[in-house]
Amino acid sequence: MRVMPRRALAAAAVLLVIAAGGAAFLLSGTYNVAADAPHTRPVYALLETLRDRSIAAHSGGIAVPGDLTQPSRIRSGAGLYGEMCQSCHLAPGVAPTELSQGLYPQAPGLAAKSDLTPTEQFWIIKHGVKLSAMPAWGKTHSDKLIWDMVAFLRTMPTLTPAEYQALNKVAPEQHDAAMHDSHGDHDH
Ligand code: HEC
Repeated sequence: MRVMPRRALAAAAVLLVIAAGGAAFLLSGTYNVAADAPHTRPVYALLETLRDRSIAAHSGGIAVPGDLTQPSRIRSGAGLYGEMCQSCHLAPGVAPTELSQGLYPQAPGLAAKSDLTPTEQFWIIKHGVKLSAMPAWGKTHSDKLIWDMVAFLRTMPTLTPAEYQALNKVAPEQHDAAMHDSHGDHDH
């Protein structure tokens, strides 16, 4: 009977020491938040797991439109991508930019094939990712335009630099038209 309280007391003491140590570390300013000082491996792994699990959990249950392979969607998505995403995420034939090189966590090169599902891509584009430079585009763009971007992202890994340029050239008017259609009240 007397063993339990003593154990509980010891456990509480250990927790208290850990909490005090954590608080001291937090308040000391020792951890370097500079974007040019990478996380240690364990911290990076922890954050990556947190992000991946969060995205998988939150994107569950989103219905994927049946027409993601439609050329009109892909063209609209290409225009939006060239305008808003390429400077961080690059594209076929696009060299690293000043913006892309300074980011940490880095913006993945989206011209490469991705393991993400369309719903995960949609969720990330709409809501962004905390503590990274990835913005929440859902604040300014309709779900329709975000699905257009997903449609384009699914296609981009198959494009040559010339095909990307050609697709992007026809896109601006399409983009303006699309912007008018789906959210005339936001300018951008
Ligand atoms: C200012 C830079 C910046 C811009 C602009 C930007 N992103 Fe990102 N994006 C990031 C960063 C940084 C990450 C990585 C976040 C992380 O590590 O969790 C990211 C992650 C992503 C991911 C997840 C990729 C993966 O493999 O995990 C997708 C998809 C994405 N962005 C799409 C877009 C689209 C589409 C646009 C344009 C509408 C866009 N991003 C604009 C910085 C940017």
